[in-house]
Amino acid sequence: MASLHFRAAPGGRLSGRLRVPGDKSISHRAIMLGAIAEGSTRVSGFLEGADALSTMNAFRALGVNIEGPDAGRVAVHGVGLHGLQPPTQALDCGNAGTAMRLMMGLLAGQRFESVLVGDSSLSKRPMRRLADPLALMGARIETHDGRPPVRILPCERLTGIHYRMPMASAQLKSALLLAGLYAEGETTVVEPAPTRDHTERMLAGFGVPVRRDGAAVSLTGGRQLVATDIDVPADISSAAFFLVAASITPGSDLVLEHVGMNPTRTGVLDILRLMGADIELANPREVGGEPVADLRVRGAALKGISVPPDRVPLAIDEFPALFIAAACAEGRTVVTGAEELRVKESDRIAVMADGLRTLGVAVEPTPDGIIIDGRGGDAPVFGGGEIATHHDHRIAMSFAMAALRAREPIVIRDTEVVGTSFPGFVAQSRAAGLDIVEFRE
Ligand code: S3P
Repeated sequence: MASLHFRAAPGGRLSGRLRVPGDKSISHRAIMLGAIAEGSTRVSGFLEGADALSTMNAFRALGVNIEGPDAGRVAVHGVGLHGLQPPTQALDCGNAGTAMRLMMGLLAGQRFESVLVGDSSLSKRPMRRLADPLALMGARIETHDGRPPVRILPCERLTGIHYRMPMASAQLKSALLLAGLYAEGETTVVEPAPTRDHTERMLAGFGVPVRRDGAAVSLTGGRQLVATDIDVPADISSAAFFLVAASITPGSDLVLEHVGMNPTRTGVLDILRLMGADIELANPREVGGEPVADLRVRGAALKGISVPPDRVPLAIDEFPALFIAAACAEGRTVVTGAEELRVKESDRIAVMADGLRTLGVAVEPTPDGIIIDGRGGDAPVFGGGEIATHHDHRIAMSFAMAALRAREPIVIRDTEVVGTSFPGFVAQSRAAGLDIVEFRE
């Protein structure tokens, strides 16, 4: 079948109000924790993107009755901590690293075998970082040289561990905490730097106490989860494309509604503000244990910065978009301490560097980051050209935004994958003022 692509025409500015789709991290976790809770969990604002739907289908295959999604509403009829059923076939995680990694933790302590598979991008991603510590807990997990498919063998008994993570990964932390629910005693995970804490917050919402002591997070196994209702905020990682787009276009004035403002996710706001962005927070409130706010963003003269390394894990998914901002900023932007970008849905340092070069930007990838010499000013920054996404949703959406400051059209190849995290991206972008169309070829 012909593949899907974007063509974005140069110029334009953004205005109006948008509510981007629900948070991907929270949507995955709502299904997983709802599934092993006692009682029915009602979710609203659920991300109806392919990634979260992969998790939903996997839990259906594990015997959980899930209704929806219907306009972002989902009802998960939990089966209790020990109620999952053996799947009759491999569980397909699609493009979703979060699905596979969190499920590795959750399935590690089950008495049945399960196999997790993914698409070509996910099949290249490292899984030993989870298999090794889970083995220390007593799990038996087989990978293909550290990559998917992942086979989890039946397990009689897990034991809690005290584990110091070698990298700042919320997926690893979450997987170990989920395994810890099934383990004897206490499971403690120590983070080298703070990472998103949705798992900890949501577990508390389901009635499982999670203790935090500095960089260490702990829970005690064997506690039943009790169903709760979850209101999923709009995903700040999806909002980030529009924060950058409005910032780089003089005259833009855009409001993004109901955006998740969890402090472990707002690194992109800190970094953009350090670059001189004009972003105002309005109407801050809390929904279901997560802070949210409306964000008003206006065009601003950005300047290049050295990104503080302690902000990196708090903005890890937003770097492709931030690189577009850096190309439009006056002067040099230097990113370091971001080697994890090399093992995301694509090698985001290499793929962004290639795309930026195609559009005429001076850029130098480094082992753990990038150096971008931005052009500043109001004139177009990017030439036209064709961008290869390597089937990475965030690469596609980032380069779509570059068109606002381009001289010629930008064609973005292989954009089907945008639907993993942002269904309706083209329609929302057009409504905000971007001249973008989809085509098949
Ligand atoms: C996620 C954690 C991050 C992030 C990913 C979602 C999560 O990955 O990049 O998109 O939901 O826990 P790492 O934990 O590998 O950094």
